[in-house]
Amino acid sequence: MALNSAEGKATLSFSDGTPALELPIYKGTIGPDVIDIRQLYAKTGKFTYDPGFLSTASCNSTITYIDGDKGELLYRGYPIEQLATKCDYLEVCHLLLFGDLPNEKQRAEFVSRVTKHTMVNEQMQFFLRGFRRDAHPMAVLTGLVGALSAFYPDSINLHDPWQREVSAIRLIAKLPTLVAMAYKYSIGQPYMYPRNDLSYAANFMRMMFATPCEDYKPNEVLVRALDRIFTLHADHEQNASTSTVRLCASSGTNPFAAIAAGVACLWGPAHGGANEACLNMLYDIQKQGGVAKIGEFIAQVKDKNSNVKLMGFGHRVYKNYDPRAKLMRETCHEVLGELGLGDDPLFKLAMALERIALEDEYFVSRKLYPNVDYYSGIVQKAIGIPVPLFTAIFALARTVGWIAQLNEMIADPEYKIGRPRQLYVGSVKRDVKPIKER
Ligand code: CMC
Repeated sequence: MALNSAEGKATLSFSDGTPALELPIYKGTIGPDVIDIRQLYAKTGKFTYDPGFLSTASCNSTITYIDGDKGELLYRGYPIEQLATKCDYLEVCHLLLFGDLPNEKQRAEFVSRVTKHTMVNEQMQFFLRGFRRDAHPMAVLTGLVGALSAFYPDSINLHDPWQREVSAIRLIAKLPTLVAMAYKYSIGQPYMYPRNDLSYAANFMRMMFATPCEDYKPNEVLVRALDRIFTLHADHEQNASTSTVRLCASSGTNPFAAIAAGVACLWGPAHGGANEACLNMLYDIQKQGGVAKIGEFIAQVKDKNSNVKLMGFGHRVYKNYDPRAKLMRETCHEVLGELGLGDDPLFKLAMALERIALEDEYFVSRKLYPNVDYYSGIVQKAIGIPVPLFTAIFALARTVGWIAQLNEMIADPEYKIGRPRQLYVGSVKRDVKPIKER
């Protein structure tokens, strides 16, 4: 989106004789102002330096807003707490994709469109067969999502708004089918075709847990929990995987390829892989003695030489409680209650670990709080989702955010291919010597 006129100026002065430069300042609707440095290199021959993007707004966006100090998350202006309790995931998808919540007619149309795209090309199952049965689901999903561009060549032109919309619907509709297929393949069970009479989350549960041998009725409490997991993970501003999708798509590649890049990035344990890593961490503490061993574990986390982190804690933006973690903890109570697992030792351990960490000076001084992944693993495990599949569920839910961000970028008249520069600190120019003289 083109920026409004500048509302202030910053003057940059230099100690090396370069003339001072006035840079425009732009204000967002809410949140920090930005200093527009686009003319900096042309006017001074200098770049800015910000590895890890600690102080860099890589784009302007109307989709998601996070206030890390308040612990606030808004999708298109709506607080996550209201969306998670008053809307379902497909309504949230409509909101992220098209800018507002659907009315009844729009909702029915959107649900029908998504539902009618849930099947994947039958050939896809032969593609799956090329994988080892014990392959990590994220390795499989990265391949399957990338392969969609080969199966749906009629919606790969990134610069055609209609093709972008069709690919968006296809991705939202087919991701649950692909994740469930990856799971069924890993356990050697037949794939279950999608059912159009079920909700998005209920259909996913059925594709995951039903077999052709008997009827399957998804539990309503678990369906609601899964739907909430999807909503809480649907978008999160310019995080690593979203920035990956934007950068990848900025080359003009097709939407399926760009989303596959997002899936690959999400896999890492510092990002979406944290939910799997967090549950494995809780299991480890449990094996070593449970609550009694929390003190030892925390001491390891604080030891800078140990490389041990408290997974599911900390966030680049939230320096207060992650609002998604609160909602997820509530869902955790509901799901465990429904399943008669109120005394689940892992949940008790997670709550005790959270309490102890939140009272510890190390975590307090660094403003480290539980993030969304701290409790999501316990909920998913209770639903019956195997641990290695957790990040694939995150990818399924985040797909709508990725595609909404990609659409926003491509539709922006100011869009350019992403091409960061660098501070080169390598060797100066030198000549290649004959091999015997090296
Ligand atoms: N356990 C122990 N220490 C931590 C943790 C943690 N989970 N997170 C940050 N710290 C420490 C870190 O060592 C550093 O200490 P010091 O100042 O003494 O060097 C300080 O806190 C600041 O951390 P940072 O690494 O500079 O912060 P960052 O913004 O670069 O990293 C993070 C954010 C999410 C990568 C990091 O907190 C982390 O690795 N957390 C664990 C993994 C995790 O739960 N990730 C999920 C994030 S939410 C879902 C998602 O985005 O996918």
